[in-house]
Amino acid sequence: MTVLRSKIDTSSEEFSANVEAMNAKLAELDLEFRKVLDGGGEKYVQRHRDRGKLTARERIELLIDEDSPFLELCPLAAYGSQFTVGASVVVGIGVVEGTECLIVANDPTVKGGTSNPWTLRKTLRTNDIARQNRLPVISLVESGGADLPTQKEVFVPGGRMFRDLTQLSAEGIPTVALVFGNSTAGGAYIPGMSDHVVMISDRSKVFLGGPPLVKMATGEESDDEELGGAAMHARISGLGDYLAADEQDAVRIGRRIVARLNWRKQGPGPVAESVEPRYSPDELLGIVPPDLKVPFDPREVIARVVDDSDFDEFKPEYGASLCTGWARIHGYPVGILANAQGVLFSQEAQKATQFIQLANRSDTPLIFLHNTTGYMVGKEYEQGGIIKHGSMMINAVSNSTVPHISILMGASYGAGHYGMCGRAYDPRFLFAWPSAKSAVMGAQQLAGVISIVSRAATEARGGTVDEEADAGMRAMIEAQIEAESVPMFLSGMLYDDGVIDPRDTRTVLGQALSAIASAPVEGTANFGVFRM
Ligand code: COA
Repeated sequence: MTVLRSKIDTSSEEFSANVEAMNAKLAELDLEFRKVLDGGGEKYVQRHRDRGKLTARERIELLIDEDSPFLELCPLAAYGSQFTVGASVVVGIGVVEGTECLIVANDPTVKGGTSNPWTLRKTLRTNDIARQNRLPVISLVESGGADLPTQKEVFVPGGRMFRDLTQLSAEGIPTVALVFGNSTAGGAYIPGMSDHVVMISDRSKVFLGGPPLVKMATGEESDDEELGGAAMHARISGLGDYLAADEQDAVRIGRRIVARLNWRKQGPGPVAESVEPRYSPDELLGIVPPDLKVPFDPREVIARVVDDSDFDEFKPEYGASLCTGWARIHGYPVGILANAQGVLFSQEAQKATQFIQLANRSDTPLIFLHNTTGYMVGKEYEQGGIIKHGSMMINAVSNSTVPHISILMGASYGAGHYGMCGRAYDPRFLFAWPSAKSAVMGAQQLAGVISIVSRAATEARGGTVDEEADAGMRAMIEAQIEAESVPMFLSGMLYDDGVIDPRDTRTVLGQALSAIASAPVEGTANFGVFRM
């Protein structure tokens, strides 16, 4: 056994300053999360309650096993956009009758639960998670369909929501729809495409077009119940499989449906008992310095995340800017790649490639802990083949078939973000710490590059550089890039699955690894052509 030994002095000023900076960022995040919990705001939540209805989150709470955790995903979707943060849908992984399921709940307090462009993106991300990890999907439906003013962004790509559902069904991944209220137009195809459908008497209304639309289209007079009431669907159309008396009854029936799925996970379970790390996860608040230019040792993070702080480091003497090694998290074996000094050199890229191949040989999931400014630039490194070595690492990450999970702890810049399995490389899950920053490069560097290029262009034209204008331009660009590099903004863009409290890292990873094990975990020997 190789137990990591922490070298951090938790009584140092530096540690306290780091904790203080991290706590400030967490407080900022908390404000946003509170807004998310408020859904469509007091007025609409009150109206919803006055109608005798439960909120989306209360429905989820009732549905999942008592006292079991819910791993909410993408709660900050739409942050920084014109739409309500959260994107009018709550999604996450919860345990229902002992089965991990992906739960998707429309929030009817936000514009009638309609789907805007961010709702769509969030839902499509949810479907990808269900497919990749073979997680049964439970939709808690109450949605007026497309957000009509933004229909141009929703209508055409939105077709995929329904295609995904039916393809999940074809792959043998169960889909369950509990319809709580209006489920109009696009909303109607959610139960339409689901394997199991529960509707609630006098509450569920499922139709392609409501009475006014029908009147417009055909002149026919009709009412809600005749067109799409739960009783009609249970007794006449056959769209409803179960008729529930009220919301609680619908949830009860939904839980019975899941109990009868006879669902078996296809991946390997934990190989050992879960053992707590030897160092407190609370100390994770004090490891990342607020100035990301100051390096930190990722072994200090690993020691507070993995079982028993037990870590077998691979090639510790070689390519020391990247720390690689084997550990367990909640009993699940994992390989870890963690940036140690920020920059990735050729040796690090070669080491990562070998390590990824090894993990694929042993069917071991990989965790990427990001704190990188990218691959090294400069004459010496270009001549040493940094492009081909970086490409080799990116090739390995792209073609590796064991599950990957990425955690952005600090910097995640440039092609380093790709090599460490950034969003475009389809990690099964990607979470960010509040301290993370991600962009093509640091804000200062980016502004500096633009300044150098524009100076050269001015001089080539025979002009003279206006120093004041240049400084103003640099400051403006720097501020813009800085604002676009922070986790809240990136989470709003759905470039991660959530910003997490560093102290929750081990729990979140455990939940993610358990969900991942719903699908088979199989490595590959088939990579692209490695340019040695
Ligand atoms: N697109 C955009 N906004 C919509 C919307 C839609 N499809 N449906 C409702 N809204 C808005 C309403 O304008 C209202 O906004 P406001 O409060 O800022 O004025 C808000 O959402 C709440 O709607 P309201 O009708 O008051 O809520 P409700 O709970 O009583 O009813 C619906 C909700 C969804 C049943 C009802 O609004 C409805 O039938 N909408 C039209 C559905 C439809 O035809 N969709 C076709 C999609 S292809």
